[in-house]
Amino acid sequence: MSLLTVTDLHVNYGKFKAVKGVSFNLNKGEIVGIVGQSGSGKSTIAKTLVGIEKKSAGEITVSAKSIQMVFQDAVGSLNPRMTIRATLNEVIRHGKGVERSSEPIEERITRLLSYVGLSDAVLNQYPREMSGGQCQRVSIARALAFNPDVLIADEPVSALDVSVQAKVLNLLRELRDSQNLSILIIAHDLAVVKNICDRVYVMHKGLFVDEGKSEEVFTKPKSEYTKALIAAVPDVERSLNARK
Ligand SMILES: Nc1ncnc2c1ncn2[C@@H]1O[C@H](COP(=O)(O)OP(=O)(O)OP(=O)(O)O)[C@@H](O)[C@H]1O
Ligand SMILES: [Mg+2]
Repeated sequence: MSLLTVTDLHVNYGKFKAVKGVSFNLNKGEIVGIVGQSGSGKSTIAKTLVGIEKKSAGEITVSAKSIQMVFQDAVGSLNPRMTIRATLNEVIRHGKGVERSSEPIEERITRLLSYVGLSDAVLNQYPREMSGGQCQRVSIARALAFNPDVLIADEPVSALDVSVQAKVLNLLRELRDSQNLSILIIAHDLAVVKNICDRVYVMHKGLFVDEGKSEEVFTKPKSEYTKALIAAVPDVERSLNARK
């Protein structure tokens, strides 16, 4: 069942065409990736899906109950003057569409944090006192307060150390299973989407140039652009090995 279906989406910023006709969908229980280099239009798609940007043409059909987005800059998207407790407290009390349950607020906050592998130890901390990975987890916890069936994660790990990246990606995979989430992951790094995504779309200059099951796109890329992206990954690995 498709929770999100996008057909021939165009998004312009004034005269500039950032997204030039892309079609894709997200099925229930899937993790789908959109990958491409900086400026290709990935965040524009995400923002359009959640209504921050307006589409210029095309169709967006949503059968999900609730779509939540974790923004590209997780640290910056948290209020620097609010502790983690205050941030989660506010969203539980005032978040539009957040179910007001009889569960005591403190318990609910603890439960949300536990979903993302954080303990109550962070409750009195401010975002600047936490690591990027922790802020990313808090952003995800905040999104989960809405009990979404679709989560859009825009560059969830690009600001993180490689060692922390794997943990956050594993967390997303676990949440897919435990919270019954379908997830759209946006990344510029192929390595990020390769292992976690069921399907990927490769974006270049406002268009998709490749798409399919992750494995197929990586083993049998159709476009020159995808081939170049794939070729760039071992280069990074080679340079890392050379430094050892
Ligand atoms: N509000 C805006 N007004 C005008 N142009 C914009 C705006 N937002 C984005 N753009 C332009 O649209 C293009 C696509 O931007 P977008 O943020 O979607 O790229 P991206 O693929 O997410 O890149 P990155 O990997 O750097 O996050 C870029 O050329 C960008 O400069
Ligand atoms: Mg972006």
